[in-house]
Amino acid sequence: MTGHVIVLGATSAMAEATARLYAAEGASLTLVGRQAERLEAIAADLKARGASAVDTAVEDLGQAKAPAKRLSDWAGGRTVDAVLLFYGVLGDQARAESDLDHAAEVLQVDFTSAALWSLAAASLLEGQGRGALVVVGSVAGDRGRQSNYVYGAAKGGLGVLVQGIAHRLALRNSGARAVLVKPGFVDTPMTDRMAKGGPLWATPEAVAKIVRRAAERGGPVQYAPGFWRLIMLVIRVIPSAIFHKRPL
Ligand SMILES: NC(=O)c1ccc[n+]([C@@H]2O[C@H](COP(=O)([O-])OP(=O)(O)OC[C@H]3O[C@@H](n4cnc5c(N)ncnc54)[C@H](OP(=O)(O)O)[C@@H]3O)[C@@H](O)[C@H]2O)c1
Repeated sequence: MTGHVIVLGATSAMAEATARLYAAEGASLTLVGRQAERLEAIAADLKARGASAVDTAVEDLGQAKAPAKRLSDWAGGRTVDAVLLFYGVLGDQARAESDLDHAAEVLQVDFTSAALWSLAAASLLEGQGRGALVVVGSVAGDRGRQSNYVYGAAKGGLGVLVQGIAHRLALRNSGARAVLVKPGFVDTPMTDRMAKGGPLWATPEAVAKIVRRAAERGGPVQYAPGFWRLIMLVIRVIPSAIFHKRPL
């Protein structure tokens, strides 16, 4: 049976869908996020769905204050099977080009703080000799595009960091693993300003299944859904002479 799972950014739509999968397995969970009431509502739902115990912790994860201590407190002496990092902000690319405070906020939340939580989680899991760190990145991190490159840069940097953690944990035969999950377009509140629909759009539930599986097995980088691996391969190899003529 699944043991304890720490969910960073538990109010995200993808996080909630993933937590439901764990709840159905009887796992215990610590839900971390900024909105106390919403966390309590999700916790009650997860208990009704079979979770053995659900704790909540109200935290601005973007500050990453004392992440090692916080994770240890949330583990509460239990062995942690998985630390799942979902939180993030899309930001406003046009605004970030002139409002550098906004750019800094996106980079702080999506890269700096997420990197610090990931490093702290990796050490916790390595110390236990088991467990998985699963971090949600984005296909936006695969190639800089004019429409979202501040967000993309943060996600790309985070991806390199998580790949490095995965390499470290594997080389040391630590028993712990790290996985970067890279979704494409997912129908969640984050994308509410975009036109949705069509074959490229996935549901949070579809991504949740990939995250859940990634915590158990598979390689260190998982696209969600898997067809994005091929799409991004093509996007990465398009020569700049062509790419720079397309408003992607
Ligand atoms: N949706 C997509 O198409 C897509 C594609 C690729 C990758 N992603 C990534 O997938 C992850 C999950 O996003 P989602 O699509 O499920 O969107 P979502 O439902 O809007 O979730 C984003 C979550 O991040 C939380 N958050 C933001 N800043 C935070 C902070 N400083 N402290 C704590 N929580 C914070 C938000 O909490 P509040 O409610 O408190 O603001 C919200 O719960 C994100 O990392 C996103 O970048 C999304």
